[in-house]
Amino acid sequence: MASIVSRSASQVLRAASRRSSRVFTKTAVTPVQVASYSLLARNARNTSQKASILAVRGVKTLDFAGTKEIVYERSDWPLPKLQEYFKNDTLALIGYGSQGHGQGLNARDNGLNVIVGVRKDGESWKQAMADGWIPGETLFPIEEAIKKGTIIMNLLSDAAQSQTWSQVSPLITKGKTLYFSHGFSVVYKNDTHVIPPSDVDVILVAPKGSGRTVRTLFKEGRGINSSIAVWQDVTGKAKEKAIALGVAIGSGYMYETTFEKEVYSDLYGERGVLMGGIQGMFLAQYKILRKNGHSPSEAFNETVEEATQSLFPLIGAKGMDYMYNACSTTARRGALDWAPIFEKANLPVFEKLYESVKNGTETRKSLEFNGRSTYRQDLAKELAEIDNQEIWRAGKVVRSLRPDYKPDSE
Ligand SMILES: NC(=O)c1ccc[n+]([C@@H]2O[C@H](COP(=O)([O-])OP(=O)(O)OC[C@H]3O[C@@H](n4cnc5c(N)ncnc54)[C@H](OP(=O)(O)O)[C@@H]3O)[C@@H](O)[C@H]2O)c1
Repeated sequence: MASIVSRSASQVLRAASRRSSRVFTKTAVTPVQVASYSLLARNARNTSQKASILAVRGVKTLDFAGTKEIVYERSDWPLPKLQEYFKNDTLALIGYGSQGHGQGLNARDNGLNVIVGVRKDGESWKQAMADGWIPGETLFPIEEAIKKGTIIMNLLSDAAQSQTWSQVSPLITKGKTLYFSHGFSVVYKNDTHVIPPSDVDVILVAPKGSGRTVRTLFKEGRGINSSIAVWQDVTGKAKEKAIALGVAIGSGYMYETTFEKEVYSDLYGERGVLMGGIQGMFLAQYKILRKNGHSPSEAFNETVEEATQSLFPLIGAKGMDYMYNACSTTARRGALDWAPIFEKANLPVFEKLYESVKNGTETRKSLEFNGRSTYRQDLAKELAEIDNQEIWRAGKVVRSLRPDYKPDSE
């Protein structure tokens, strides 16, 4: 499909701006303030006066296509307030995978007292040291970090949260707060056996993206969007703490949800459109093109390259209709006709997937697989199989043709 821009950019922008002003008419217009939640941004401001200006918007109710929802924003938590709020706390980050890295470094850069707890001399221990965590000062074996912490941020892999729970649980004593970034462990308690002590607040901040993105957005002075939820409120302050921690770890704004809703939607989304669905759909389209004699480069370009380089960013920037409008009338006609056919074909698959998430089948599979001592190698083997599929081998060559291609980026 040729993505011929058939509507002038200014027309499209004007339409988009009309749309966005309709959506936000209920939002109070408030003053702006200089805000920075990253050292890089602060340093940049000090040296160049080019401050990052963010709108002060704060907590508010927004109308999401007819449903009102509350959104919490970082601007309600200026850095001095955040630091004052946590001045007596030690955030003990247990686990240093992708989220541990992003959340831990952001909270540390925000001036909070953060320590890391991981298996001594494991991969994560080495990674944490490389990121400047110091053994005996800010880096400890898991049990020691939990003892020292007041807010226990359980960022082990979901399978490890279950496996280590019998050692971790007795250390989570009254007065501490237990924090997760996924509803997985407590919602599927019958499978994970993670049942939090009844005398601690149990909260969730789930960034909607990889820990690497949590970090890069923060460094740019931006902020990822996260969900927050409360499982157990002993102090009456659980929600407030979740919001403050969301800001501390680098969120720009946060939606309120429940542990159940967070885990169902997250497991469903990543198995669906976000990861499993997209790989399945790309592959199916590519295979039919190849079967009909199209070359690998043509099949890849019409399936992946145009999607990721041209069209998906337009959806991200201004929505599906904007992307349609940026394409030829021929493309628009065909896409409008075929969208409902794909929807109908996919609905039963998504029904089956949601059920498989809700009834715990997906959780049990994940616990079994990721609980193996060989989980890293086993995952790497399956991912290498994907990497070796013709579509992705062709993709490497296509990427190498991009004028901005850097050979060491593969
Ligand atoms: N990644 C994401 O995109 C994302 C997004 C939102 C929320 N979350 C949630 O955030 C949490 C952390 O996820 P993640 O992706 O950052 O981490 P992960 O890669 O799933 O887990 C890595 C950590 O778990 C540790 N670990 C694994 N098995 C262990 C065991 N048996 N005993 C002790 N430690 C063990 C690893 O330590 P070693 O190096 O010592 O093995 C490492 O520190 C999860 O609840 C996840 O669902 C993740």
